[in-house]
Amino acid sequence: MVVSDHRSEGANLSGRRVVLTGASRGLGEALAHAFSRAGAQVALVARSAPDLERVSAALPGDALALAGDVTDADFNHRVAGEVVAAWGGLDVWIANAGVAPTVGGPLETTPEQWRQVLDVNLTGAFLGARAAAAHLGPGGRLIFTGSVLGERPRAGLAAYSASKAGMVATAKALALDLAAAGVTVNVVAPGWFDTPLTEGWMRNPALSERITGHTALRRWGDPAELTGAYLFLASEASSFVTGSVLTVDGGYLLV
Ligand SMILES: NC(=O)c1ccc[n+]([C@@H]2O[C@H](COP(=O)([O-])OP(=O)(O)OC[C@H]3O[C@@H](n4cnc5c(N)ncnc54)[C@H](OP(=O)(O)O)[C@@H]3O)[C@@H](O)[C@H]2O)c1
Repeated sequence: MVVSDHRSEGANLSGRRVVLTGASRGLGEALAHAFSRAGAQVALVARSAPDLERVSAALPGDALALAGDVTDADFNHRVAGEVVAAWGGLDVWIANAGVAPTVGGPLETTPEQWRQVLDVNLTGAFLGARAAAAHLGPGGRLIFTGSVLGERPRAGLAAYSASKAGMVATAKALALDLAAAGVTVNVVAPGWFDTPLTEGWMRNPALSERITGHTALRRWGDPAELTGAYLFLASEASSFVTGSVLTVDGGYLLV
């Protein structure tokens, strides 16, 4: 994957201590590079330790690779604790880990599949926020990776769409809960980006055309085009932004 992009050059997050889940590939890998280039210390989280080590080794700055499952509440607390122990505090938690199996209609979707998607995408994000909230102080940031499908669901993706819509409500409630502590909580809602998660759609010409046909800019997004939104929400520049959804979709929701 290409990560040597310079769109986010100029962002300065020096000294910011960041946890990034879903960091082993796709959007998370691009975010890891963008935050590291901006001077942040980044703790990378995903289940696959070798993938995390590969990403970590390629970063220009200080990084930790912490392998585990975001659905495990204890693991989330361990991550927060290890970051605080290593770097003396925690400033930003990005809940980006997610799964998006196309499971079909209600009769094809098993209860286990439904629960698994909600567990990773929604409960996993909440458990991360819960672990982070114990450490975040004034200027702290929670950023969730939502999706345009949380606003405009797709057939076959009810569980995924529900998880991402639920994430918006969760972020708004947490923005109220944590406002007094000086912590902001926001969602980035990506449109369609070229990552391993969307490979099946992108490689299928009919599906891919349906997506680009529904995108005002008539193309897929490059993960490097998404990173600026997170850098903004993690920085001082967004100090008065909370409970918001920042959509980065090339105009997908317009068409
Ligand atoms: N790509 C898009 O067009 C798009 C659009 C809208 C929203 N999103 C959202 O963006 C986020 C990242 O997507 P992506 O496209 O980068 O997907 P991806 O390439 O499949 O990467 C998913 C990441 O999440 C991690 N992950 C999955 N389940 C996990 C778990 N239980 N515990 C810890 N880590 C877990 C994966 O690592 P392991 O498998 O090693 O755990 C991987 O690092 C997701 O939340 C997705 O819903 C993507």
